[in-house]
Amino acid sequence: MSAPELDNLGSELLDAIARASTLAKLEEVRVAALGKKGLVSALMQQLGTLPPEARKDYGQAVNALKTSIGDALEAKRAELARAATAEKLAHERADVTLPVREGPLADGRIHPVSQVTCEITEIFADMGFSIAEGPDIETDFNNFTALNIPPEHPARQDHDTFYFAEAPDGSRPLLRTHTSPVQIRTMLAQKPPLRIIAPGRVYRCDSDQTHTPMFHQVEGLVIDEETHLGHLKWVLEEFCKAFFEVKQVKMRFRASYFPFTEPSMEVDIGYAKIGDEIRIGEGDQWLEILGCGMVHPNVLKNVGLDPERYQGFAFGLGIDRIAMLKYGMPDLRAFFAGDLRWLKHYGFPPLAIPILAAGLSS
Ligand code: DAH
Repeated sequence: MSAPELDNLGSELLDAIARASTLAKLEEVRVAALGKKGLVSALMQQLGTLPPEARKDYGQAVNALKTSIGDALEAKRAELARAATAEKLAHERADVTLPVREGPLADGRIHPVSQVTCEITEIFADMGFSIAEGPDIETDFNNFTALNIPPEHPARQDHDTFYFAEAPDGSRPLLRTHTSPVQIRTMLAQKPPLRIIAPGRVYRCDSDQTHTPMFHQVEGLVIDEETHLGHLKWVLEEFCKAFFEVKQVKMRFRASYFPFTEPSMEVDIGYAKIGDEIRIGEGDQWLEILGCGMVHPNVLKNVGLDPERYQGFAFGLGIDRIAMLKYGMPDLRAFFAGDLRWLKHYGFPPLAIPILAAGLSS
């Protein structure tokens, strides 16, 4: 193609660009000119057919054409895009006063057991406790023997234990019947001073209106060289006040028996029921919420701690029970029925994380 022909082609293409009224039409022009099979590419391919002395000038001319077309395309594209935005802005309206549409976060609910576990954790963390964990499937040693409940001990009968089949070595794994084995695991793994809580699932072969085969406990354990019963009472009282979000609580410590503590106590919390509402710290009704005591010297010995030097307290608290009491849920079985209507009613918004400073449940 001669130089004047190139010029001609150039002005035709520039014309076509100038005439393109939409981005789509402009794209057509671009493909026809600069696309792989476009005019300019075809011109470039002719380069090889020319005598060597003509190639340089021709190449430069085609390149110049390519550049000017490219520039014109880009300028036109920007112009059309600006016009398209202006057009959109002129015709579309966003009503910024509309409320934000509710997403899935508004539908989801945190189960009361999770909420209450978070609340408990928050309170004890604030008192300097850390969280310990253990598996649901436990050894007989951790669940019983090390806790001063040797084989043949009558306390084993109270636990309605789910056992697994006997292993070849004669051992018999079980579903833990309480969170107390986490005491053993913790003392075997860490040196005192210890200050832990261990929330989790526990299992007993038992089911009626107030018992489910799986339920939740939180274990507490403090071991050092000077902790005494006064500390235990203070910690539990402070916990109850913080948990029930009241200034005063009524608590009753009753002498009791657990193989792994000496002395042992059960703790009741006082409440009043006024209509459907439960008021903690008032009235003369009592509900047992936990067992506790000073860790038995035999338990310390079983994990290799010297009872002459170390001492401390332990407690085990029913999470579901205090959840029912705090949030007025009458039936324990509903906790685990998976009924969405129940969860919608009693569940908690997923972003309302319990924080002491902000009020636990608000
Ligand atoms: N493990 C006991 C139970 O499930 C509860 C308990 C009582 C735990 C006294 C303790 C304790 O740590 O000191 O029945």
